[in-house]
Parts: sequence; C-alpha cells; structure tokens
Amino acid sequence: MKKVQLRLGSNSYDIDIGPGILKQSGRQLKESGFADRLVIITNPIVNNLYGDTIGRSLAAEGFTVTTLTIPDGEEQKSLEAAGRLYHELAECYAERTTPILALGGGVIGDLAGFVAATYLRGVPLIQVPTTLLAQVDSSIGGKVALDHDRLKNKIGAFYQPRLVISDIDTIKTLGDKQFTDGLAEVIKYGVIQDEGFFTYLENNLDRIKLLDTETLEEVVFRSAEIKAGVVEKDEKDLGLRAILNFGHTVGHAIESVSDFKVSHGEAVAIGMLAAARISRRMSILTQNELSRLEGLIKRAGLPTGLPDPGIEKLVSAMKQDKKVLKGKLRFVLPESLGKVFITDEVNLSLVEQALIG
Ligand SMILES: NC(=O)c1ccc[n+]([C@@H]2O[C@H](COP(=O)([O-])OP(=O)(O)OC[C@H]3O[C@@H](n4cnc5c(N)ncnc54)[C@H](O)[C@@H]3O)[C@@H](O)[C@H]2O)c1
Ligand SMILES: [Zn+2]
Repeated sequence: MKKVQLRLGSNSYDIDIGPGILKQSGRQLKESGFADRLVIITNPIVNNLYGDTIGRSLAAEGFTVTTLTIPDGEEQKSLEAAGRLYHELAECYAERTTPILALGGGVIGDLAGFVAATYLRGVPLIQVPTTLLAQVDSSIGGKVALDHDRLKNKIGAFYQPRLVISDIDTIKTLGDKQFTDGLAEVIKYGVIQDEGFFTYLENNLDRIKLLDTETLEEVVFRSAEIKAGVVEKDEKDLGLRAILNFGHTVGHAIESVSDFKVSHGEAVAIGMLAAARISRRMSILTQNELSRLEGLIKRAGLPTGLPDPGIEKLVSAMKQDKKVLKGKLRFVLPESLGKVFITDEVNLSLVEQALIG
C-alpha cells in the first residue's frame, strides 16, 4: 500500500492507495480513531459491487453500519437528494461524531461530502472513491458540491475528509468509457507539473490499458501526490489551484454546448490539446511537445478534436460568454510538458484556430 499525506495543519489527512485495501478498511478506520457507528452513503451499483466487502471489514472491527443508498446519476447532486439524506440521517439518530463514508464515484463523493459538511454543522467525512476520476481527483482536496438551476457545482463548501481509501481493484470493474475518461485527468497532472510522470504514462500506457495492478497503483499514487501538493499550497482556490483547470476552459464549454453528450474526460482532452495548440501558436510550446501530448491522448483512446459543426457552435457560445472580456479569455497554457502558466491574454480568434487544429 502507498500513502500520500495531505498536510493542511489540523485538517491534514492520509490518502491510502493500494489493491484490495477495502478489505482492511475497518482496521484502518479503527486505527484512525473511529469506533462504534458509521453511515455509508452509496448507490445501488457500487453497493452491489463493494457493499459486502466493506460491510464485512467494518463488522469485524465492531462497527455498527447504516447504509443509505441514493439512485445513480449526476441528477442526484441536488438539494432534494441532500434533503432526503438529512432526513434519513436524523431517522437513524446520526450524531455529530458519527462519520459519513462516501462509497462511490465523484457524484457520491460530492453529494455525501456536502451532506457531511452541513449536517449538524459538520460530521466526519471518509472518502472511499471507486472510479479512476474520483481516486485521482474528486476525493482529494475537499471541494464538495451540488448542482443547482442546471449549473454544475453551484452550491458547495470546502470540507476536507479525515481519510481517503483508494482501493485500486475497484477501478477494474469500471466501464471502458468511465476508465478512459479518468485518464484525461491523469494526463493533465503530467502536463501541469511533472514531465517525468508524463514520460511514465507514455512508456506504460499499454500496461495501464490492460489494468495492470502495479501500474495503476503508481498512476493513482503519483496523480494523488500532485493534486495533494497543489491543494496544500492553495486550499481555498485563490491562486495556484487554478492550474488544475488546465484543459477545462474549453472543456467546460464543450460539455455544455454538447448538452453533456461529450463526456467530461473527452471534453478535457480536447481542451488540453486546444490549450497546447494556442501555446504552440504563441511559440512557447515546441512542436515536439505538442505532438507528444496529441499522441498520448490518442493512444489513451480520447478524442483530439471536434467535428466542424461543434466548433462553430462552441465559438459562438464562447463569444456570448460574459467572462470573455473584450474578446480575451483566461487560460492555463503549457509552457512545456510539466509546467503551465496562467494568462488573461488569449484572443478568441486564437482559440478558434486552435480548435480547428
Ligand atoms: N470535488 C471535486 O473536486 C471534483 C473534481 C472532479 C469531478 N468532480 C465531480 O465528480 C463527478 C463525476 O465523477 P465520476 O466520473 O466518478 O462519475 P460517477 O460518480 O457518476 O460514476 C460514474 C459511474 O460509475 C459507476 N461506478 C462507480 N464506481 C464503480 C466501480 N468501481 N465499478 C463500476 N461502476 C462504478 C457509478 O455508479 C456511475 O454510474 C461530477 O459530478 C463532477 O462534478 C468533483
Ligand atoms: Zn476535470
């Protein structure tokens, strides 16, 4: 098992990463000072796959467990779903000290995290992420949120978990598309911070796609380490944390213009390449680096561009965006593979050209 320590003073916590560690989650929680009662929030899919394993491990350490399930899907990141959970928590007499354990992907993590942050002004939160995206991204850093009025993550809080348990084996039951989507964020970490990791991904992509345990463990570990390092320096997203948005300026626009038919990972992949092409046109990124990024994204099974009608729609939506000041946009651009910078000076016309290729 590998461990990443996220240091945030009294809000510090460990991220445990390894194969099969769900089976030891009871002992791990006991060692972290938890005892007696615990509420698991999950969905039926994840509960069927992993509910028994975690339940047995907790029972063996003497925990009394209540499991609350919510339906699957992004729509559950809502005030209504949170309201139902508050009601059920009250029904089972959950107290200030009763921890909530979020078992699932980013949707469960964000919703259960929001509920943990607000129920009785905050109860302890344990993240047990079961998707690649949740293990490398959403379970780390304390952002919890609900969607509101069709706007994503509109209501939320910064609320750090007490512990993150990432069992690598859970990734193996993901659908191909879910897995590939998570790879976009993994590639992002290489570009923003660690050329060595980027090269590691290039050299090991075949093993990653074959779901080789040791390689996946390394991928999740290094991604978690990079994200934790950024969060430690900027917990409340006032500066450096913006670099985690690399590929997301264009990515978010693509997701919304496509009515979310283009998935998050696909949109981020196209967004990362658009940012890299902008940097290339500004003579910052070299052609070789741009080609390496394009090659890795392709090999990962992610898209490298949009069909033509998509680009027209996207550019006209970006023109209407109030955040586009005098035709200029804020972007995180790669300076090289392993280093990014933030600029407010990207012309919309440059974005348009970069999207075309
Ligand atoms: N808080 C943050 O910092 C942060 C960061 C990035 C994304 N997010 C949020 O994360 C969410 C997306 O997360 P996601 O991609 O994990 O999606 P998700 O939670 O919807 O999970 C995807 C699908 O996989 C299923 N699933 C989960 N684990 C599984 C497993 N081990 N085997 C088989 N199926 C499994 C889920 O039931 C679901 O159907 C979005 O709401 C996004 O806003 C939050
Ligand atoms: Zn993302």
